[in-house]
Amino acid sequence: MKILSFVYGEHSCGLAVIENGRPKYCYEEDRFSRVKSSTDWKNLFFRFPILSMYELQYKNQENINDFDVYLFPKIYGIDGATDQFLSKISKQCNFYIDVDKIKSKSFEYDHHGSHCALAYYTSGFFNKKCLVVSIDALGCNHSAKYYLGENGKMKYIDGIDGGRLSYGTYYAMLTELLGFQRLKDEGKVVGMSSHGEIIDDLYNIFTNVIGPLDGIKTRKFKDNFDGQMFIDFYTEFFKLVGSRFYKNTKTLNNIAAVGQLAFENSICELLNKLHDLYADYDHVCLSGGIFANVKLNKRINELTWVKEVYITPSMGDEGLPLGSGLLYNSSNNNQDVFRLNDVYFGSDYSGLEIQDTINCENFVDKIVCEDLDIDKVAQLLDQQHIIGLFQGRMEYGPRALGNRTILADARKVEAYNKLNDRLNRNDCMPFAPVVLEEYAVDIFKIEKSRYTAEFMTMLYETKSEWHDRIPSALHPIDKTARIQIVHETKNKLLYDILKSFYIRTGVPVLINTSFNVHEEPIVCWPENAMNHLVNGIVDYLIIENKLYSLKK
Ligand SMILES: [Fe+2]
Repeated sequence: MKILSFVYGEHSCGLAVIENGRPKYCYEEDRFSRVKSSTDWKNLFFRFPILSMYELQYKNQENINDFDVYLFPKIYGIDGATDQFLSKISKQCNFYIDVDKIKSKSFEYDHHGSHCALAYYTSGFFNKKCLVVSIDALGCNHSAKYYLGENGKMKYIDGIDGGRLSYGTYYAMLTELLGFQRLKDEGKVVGMSSHGEIIDDLYNIFTNVIGPLDGIKTRKFKDNFDGQMFIDFYTEFFKLVGSRFYKNTKTLNNIAAVGQLAFENSICELLNKLHDLYADYDHVCLSGGIFANVKLNKRINELTWVKEVYITPSMGDEGLPLGSGLLYNSSNNNQDVFRLNDVYFGSDYSGLEIQDTINCENFVDKIVCEDLDIDKVAQLLDQQHIIGLFQGRMEYGPRALGNRTILADARKVEAYNKLNDRLNRNDCMPFAPVVLEEYAVDIFKIEKSRYTAEFMTMLYETKSEWHDRIPSALHPIDKTARIQIVHETKNKLLYDILKSFYIRTGVPVLINTSFNVHEEPIVCWPENAMNHLVNGIVDYLIIENKLYSLKK
């Protein structure tokens, strides 16, 4: 069974190929178009995954017309959305699209059902009773849905429909209140929140907006769709505290702290209520955009009844095509629960393509190439150099997990400051650490929910003896870290670099941040990576088995 599933008309645009219940290709259009979805999110209904289709058709020789099943997003409020999409792509693509054939095998998928299927079926929670929860701003007229996952089947329980306030909209409101951009800067708010203090009056306002919970639902809004959240909040906020609060960094940190805490408390309360109703279900699978919030995820992991949490690495709408494929298979009794070995489902590039890039006139006279020597890389990192790492297939989801990654030393602030300046990045969130698998438990408190620590989707506490040893990888206030555990069998090159760095320094940790400058999607082609070298963003660049640097 070979499925081609699309996402568009959502925050993300892309596609996935699912073959025999496993991901084969997962593409996000913004990696190819080089325009981040968040920068033009208001145009989301006009973006289609044309470049992803070209990648599939031409590069991977997968005939678009030759799949067993085609899945399309059910777009609430737009009649004939799939027909419109097929009509558009058949005109825009430069290869033949057999619209009638595709239509005869096509189905529309549910938004939250697909989020949940991705979370449950990739959780690896074999023979466990799972509470499966998806929460975001809105999709298919719901901002949340809850399922029970058991014996490889998902059963719908309940959800929050579009007539009620939405947790995703709440966090967008908080982000905008602090002067940031929704769908892009939420991570900054999470980072700021650990710098602030809790102010009771403010806490009550936030809680009144997001709650009180009606069982396992949020409050109904009066008359203004997702704008109601903003109206309720601003009315109360300015009536009580107004601009006297809204003045300096300390206050903004306090607002972030309070907004985050009210958010965490409300969602934990919701999960606790679900647990009251389904007490046997002690494994939790989470998906949907709000679970990009690594601090919220830590709170959920700390609930005493939770045995283990899994947060899908592609928790946003970019995960929908893969999730919908798994959901389709499950509805045909054809999907097992499995564990992701990695998320390298994007494109890779051949030696010839890389060589063509190197030889082009933009680069050939400017760079020096040498065979990759892992020990030299460790030495360069020890000397506070910044290193770009480009290898294999691109990651699926918002995090760079070792194939399109920038590496730096976590021990000193020098590399941290250099990296922050070069990436034009100055938020409160520290860079995330990669850590050798065999030492992870010595440094971080990962006894619970260790699998999810392979994907940088949750904060973990750091053991006190390491607080001063890897300061650049930890939050400066609470010393937490959103870690990625690196296994030798899952990313050999990154593992070897870490190991060599450990032998040299005694520290099995490096900073890992995504390989892109501010506002740009993560690098896709070798050319994007090479531009980062030529423009001085990285000091050295690894592409597969070569090390590149600038000519002196
Ligand atoms: Fe979503």
